[in-house]
Amino acid sequence: MTQPERVWDAADTYAAEQLLPPDAALDAAMANNAAAGLPNIAVSPLQGKLLQLIVGIHGARRVLEIGTLGGYSTLWLARALPADGRIVTVEVDPHHADTARANLERAGVGDRAEVLVGAALDVLPGLLDGAPFDFVFIDADKPNNAAYLAWALRLTRRGAVIVVDNVVRRGRVADAGSEDPGVRGARAVIEAVSAEPRLLPTVVQTVGSKGHDGFLLARVVG
Ligand code: SAH
Ligand code: DHB
Ligand code: MG
Repeated sequence: MTQPERVWDAADTYAAEQLLPPDAALDAAMANNAAAGLPNIAVSPLQGKLLQLIVGIHGARRVLEIGTLGGYSTLWLARALPADGRIVTVEVDPHHADTARANLERAGVGDRAEVLVGAALDVLPGLLDGAPFDFVFIDADKPNNAAYLAWALRLTRRGAVIVVDNVVRRGRVADAGSEDPGVRGARAVIEAVSAEPRLLPTVVQTVGSKGHDGFLLARVVG
């Protein structure tokens, strides 16, 4: 880690120690994901809590997540829901999906969370019947970000909130010439929201235990 990264990590650790008491279900999910060989790319604990806060502040009852991994972010989102709320999460890798289902069951939110297996662009059309959702978290394969944003608009109604993870990529999002697929995906979705009059968007850079990245947040206003 570089010096600034050490400083960000120390501040994250301090804030998490103060604000995030040990939590058996979340801690078990993180441990299970590592034991199952899943990559260490889930949202950080403090970021997961931010997602929980946004869903709670918004009063969302129907949540859609694209990119489940082991269900760590799903668990934070599910916990923000009222008893009759639902989260649908889409994951292409069956091993990730199985791990997520086990984590969500163990956490006691299995009845509120449904993990759908398949490439999101194949699965999302089947969700039109269950729409509208009032919160969408996009966190899957970055080259499809703009396509997922278009689906999020189809699957929501006015007032909904859309959050996209990983849109800053250590600041490389500012590099118009980048050939990195993650950077290109970040730029594509920022440019797509910029051109979409139905959205009120912003980008929030984040630093911490996951390095320097950021969230795109947008509200459907039209
Ligand atoms: N939201 C998770 C992290 C997701 S990582 C968390 O914070 O805990 C990205 C996930 O997207 C990976 O599990 C990957 O398998 C999945 N993914 C990649 N391509 C996909 C696609 N086309 N459709 C659905 N999921 C996809
Ligand atoms: C990657 C994906 C993510 O969703 C993330 O939060 C961090 C990294 C990746 O594919 O490298
Ligand atoms: Mg992510």
